[in-house]
Amino acid sequence: MREWAEPLGSILMKEIGKPLKSAISEISRTADIFEATSEAGSQIEGESMFGDVFKGFTRDKVSLTSRVPLGVILCIGPFNYPFNLTGSKIAPALMAGNTVIVKPPSQGAITPLYYGIILEEAGVPPGVFNIITGRGSELGDYLVSHPGIDMVSFTGSSDTGKHIAQVAGMKPLLFELGGKDAAIVLDDADLEKTVDAIVSGAFSYSGQRCTAVKRVLPMPGIADKLIQKVKEKTLLISIGDPAENKTIGPLINSKQCDYVQELIDDAVNKGAKILCGNKREGNILWPTILDNVTTNMRVAWEEPFGPVLPFIRIRSAEEAIEISNKSQYGLQGMIFTENIDLAFNIAQELEVGTVQINGKSERGPDHFPFLGTKSSGLGTQGIKYSIEAMSRPKVVVLNLSEKGKLVKDCKY
Ligand code: NAP
Ligand code: G3H
Repeated sequence: MREWAEPLGSILMKEIGKPLKSAISEISRTADIFEATSEAGSQIEGESMFGDVFKGFTRDKVSLTSRVPLGVILCIGPFNYPFNLTGSKIAPALMAGNTVIVKPPSQGAITPLYYGIILEEAGVPPGVFNIITGRGSELGDYLVSHPGIDMVSFTGSSDTGKHIAQVAGMKPLLFELGGKDAAIVLDDADLEKTVDAIVSGAFSYSGQRCTAVKRVLPMPGIADKLIQKVKEKTLLISIGDPAENKTIGPLINSKQCDYVQELIDDAVNKGAKILCGNKREGNILWPTILDNVTTNMRVAWEEPFGPVLPFIRIRSAEEAIEISNKSQYGLQGMIFTENIDLAFNIAQELEVGTVQINGKSERGPDHFPFLGTKSSGLGTQGIKYSIEAMSRPKVVVLNLSEKGKLVKDCKY
């Protein structure tokens, strides 16, 4: 993977329009994940317990627990990280001792095909790793409900995730789904740092990240300054060809552009103010900032997966918590403030997998636990967490008999 990071990154850039540098780093990040997973896999520990903790049992009952594979893991990844979010499933599945079937996304299918060559060269035996290509809408149900599949590890939209959950039957599911990550900005936040985090969080890869900053909730004392500075920085963002590493490039398809435009139009019709953007050429949408967004607008709740950033002005931390938690999503949240005690207390109230304090929402580093609540996911990923999710405990209980009791002058 490391040797081929550049050529594979270049294919990835052409497939999904990701800026070349980010596409190359998607490949090398995946190599790091494989390395870390192989180390973590070799450190998996078992456990033993004596029975005398519970009344009625003695130390003659001893459990020996180890982890065993689940069987065949079906790995389905999304278009926006087709190599990385397929690899972050393959590595733990293999390290836990499973065999793997990958169904790559239709857009972004070519780069993951190289896993076939990479893993063969790495010595994975025939039959252990398999790829099936085709549209999810055509072969998804067949694969997901197939009795030969023992677990589904899926990353994609919440709608597809809910559908898979319905057809999968009683299989373990590991899901990473959509998000609507909110940045709560309190009056005492460090302005420059907060602006940097919001702009890069909202607009890198044109907002096509599950962990993108998807709404900002600023307090009255900082809102005007913050919005002005976010606008100034957004106007400097490069737009154009991903081969030239422009931050904003074409969205994945024109249907997605239409959808993002629909959200912008709905907000404007209901009174939101456009501060920049709202321009389209082909599948490129200019980064768009909306001020005075209110909770009756679709953009306050729906995931655009595009370069649009709504500001919902709030009056108190309680209101911020309420708006954050009303979302059907619960991937990550952010709090920007110098008051760490208050940030910690707000973090306790947010119904999300992860809360970032003074930083943008993001998945990495990849050994951290990564999860979503509500419509944002099922189960926990992250190097050791993924290995655990893709294996199960196997318990053997020794019931010791009188025969082995130590007695005086034992002859054995
Ligand atoms: P998607 O449309 O749900 O597709 C995801 C994958 O599911 C693709 O491989 C797709 O195949 C396949 N699929 C579609 N229908 C299926 C079915 N009935 N059964 C089985 N598989 C099926 O999502 P996307 O547009 O690629 O990705 C964007 C979404 O993913 C966003 O909502 C984003 O937030 C979310 N996401 C979440 C995370 C996270 O970590 N939480 C990370 C990345 C992305 P086809 O391509 O052939 O349709
Ligand atoms: O799109 C979802 C990815 O898991 C986001 O990863 O935060 O490293 O861009 P990232």
